[in-house]
Amino acid sequence: KKVVLAYSGGLDTSIILKWLQEEYGCEVVTFTADIGQGEEVEPARAKAQAAGVKEIYIEDLTEEFARDFVFPMFRANAIYEGEYLLGTSIARPLITKRLIEIARETGADAISHGATGKGNDQVRFELGAYALMPDVKIIAPWREWDLLSREKLMKYAEEHGIPVEMKRKGKSPYSMDANLLHISYEGYDLEDPWCEPSEEMWRWSVSPEAAPDKPTYIELTFEKGDVTAIDGVAMSPAKVMTELNRVGGANGIGRDDIVENRYVGMKSRGCYETPGGTILLKAHRAIESLTLDRESAHLKDELMPKYAELVYNGYWWSPEREMLQAAIDQTQEVVNGVVRLKLYKGGIMVVGRKSETHSLFDESIATFEDDAGAYDQKDAGGFIKLNALRLRVAARRRGS
Ligand code: ARG
Ligand code: SIN
Repeated sequence: KKVVLAYSGGLDTSIILKWLQEEYGCEVVTFTADIGQGEEVEPARAKAQAAGVKEIYIEDLTEEFARDFVFPMFRANAIYEGEYLLGTSIARPLITKRLIEIARETGADAISHGATGKGNDQVRFELGAYALMPDVKIIAPWREWDLLSREKLMKYAEEHGIPVEMKRKGKSPYSMDANLLHISYEGYDLEDPWCEPSEEMWRWSVSPEAAPDKPTYIELTFEKGDVTAIDGVAMSPAKVMTELNRVGGANGIGRDDIVENRYVGMKSRGCYETPGGTILLKAHRAIESLTLDRESAHLKDELMPKYAELVYNGYWWSPEREMLQAAIDQTQEVVNGVVRLKLYKGGIMVVGRKSETHSLFDESIATFEDDAGAYDQKDAGGFIKLNALRLRVAARRRGS
């Protein structure tokens, strides 16, 4: 029996690796992915080898992540509960997809992950896995073992020769998750929703107060709803995200501090840094405002919360998400042009937008000056009167 483990190389998943070998007596295949978390993935190889792993997968998935997951989601302008840009949620389907592909390649019949039994991530991994491999066996050690305190984990690590000094991520006390789209912080002092996080917690952005006193201007080129160039320089999707994170972070953009509803039923407080995503969303809406027909834009906005909920709850690999994606992608054919933004101390202002090929904005119609007959103001009288007809009938009925 063989199991593919989503292995970060950190302490927790190193313990899981050992535990799987001991408890299940099975052969473990490790899978470690670079999805832009900003940490070396190569060190996972030596650690996995030291644990006796024979099949070790280490892959750079940053381009695939940006191109096939982040960008499609931003075409929908997806936001969960009005705030969350879904940075962790959107990475899980990709990890799951590779876990299952590797299971098939190596002849494994099970997968395992390090998500706890209290969170969203377990749901996302497992719904995805069942959707892609209906008979897969799933091992979620956090739901099974009795290593439920930090102390017990440390003891287990020491007893099994797992180096404990590899306490992850530069000793941050927070539960963190990072990728090309965001970095998240949960737990520790954030468990009190009234407690303001300390400035040291944030890793990717300066505070708005510390941001430059001069604004930064950038121009984003869109093709079919995706950014393909920054300031006229063509870039791959992952490059676009990296560059937007850099310029956004430098201007104090993209910090968020929220209480959200987890799918498993609890409220949870989290802080997020999404500099590039925050810029991308604003710019995408700006180019859509110029190029999308009113009714398709409004319908798209009605579908968005549903789409965001599907991504949050782990239904990326579902027929309903694919159905919505097809509709959204179809609208993006016309979303071409350039948006000019001014970034300043945590704020993003759209200061210009243009589309030579697909702008629906007609200055000759919209002008406050003489429009030379493009729009007959007399028509508006009848338009308003017919729309008012039922309001007038109802008002008479009430005796007004
Ligand atoms: N609460 C966010 C979400 O559900 C972030 C989860 C972060 N996950 C983690 N393993 N630290 O998407
Ligand atoms: C976890 O429990 O693994 C992190 C939090 C979450 O998945 O929501």
